[in-house]
Amino acid sequence: TKALQVAMDGPASAGKSTVAKLVAKRFGYIYCDTGAMYRSVTWAALDRNITLDNIAAIIKLAQEITISFEPGAEEQRVFVDGHEVTKVIRSNEVAENVSAVAAIPEVRSEMVKEQRKIATQGGIVMDGRDIGTTVLPNAPVKIFLVASAHERARRRFEENQAKGIATSTLEELQKAIELRDQKDSTRKVSPLTKAKDAIEIDSTHLTIDQVVSEISKIIEKKC
Ligand code: C5P
Repeated sequence: TKALQVAMDGPASAGKSTVAKLVAKRFGYIYCDTGAMYRSVTWAALDRNITLDNIAAIIKLAQEITISFEPGAEEQRVFVDGHEVTKVIRSNEVAENVSAVAAIPEVRSEMVKEQRKIATQGGIVMDGRDIGTTVLPNAPVKIFLVASAHERARRRFEENQAKGIATSTLEELQKAIELRDQKDSTRKVSPLTKAKDAIEIDSTHLTIDQVVSEISKIIEKKC
């Protein structure tokens, strides 16, 4: 099989990272979570008490920090300048502020530059919002993974409970997910949109295994 670039986009909590990790493992590809990069910039800004209206400081920060990934036992570990942020970048505070940071064009161009560097290494599954449209427009496999907002909130709720994370109610989770999607879909630069040549998969009524096998078939056809 060939080492292909696989672009995986879609709204928040559609299961992109779960599926992308499994597909990467199956084909021996690397996995890149681009959302973790925007979350890392957001965390670093909050950590340094940079307010979100201080665009110049956030741009400078995005250019200065080094975001790195390391394989971990269960999940990929994320570091900002060598400091582990794997867990803290999943906080509500980061989730509530990340869309504003990700809407800054200069922050995006910095992240996209890094993402393209990572993707030159060969077989890769990269998940995000603009991978098929902007980061890897020539990727031979593009997936747009969706699910109903209710189902996405339900899965996140169950995941929080299973992990023992303090969770908001199902209704609050759904509202937060819809708000983030709305911000990500309406921003000026690289909004969340399905690339013309992307294949849409609706996972609302599918299991993880079913989604992984559907995507695997699409990749095998191109290999
Ligand atoms: O994928 P995840 O939900 O972790 O992404 C967090 C946020 O990062 C998104 O809501 C979006 O604002 C931003 N993002 C982006 N472009 C990407 C990946 C994530 O704008 N390629």
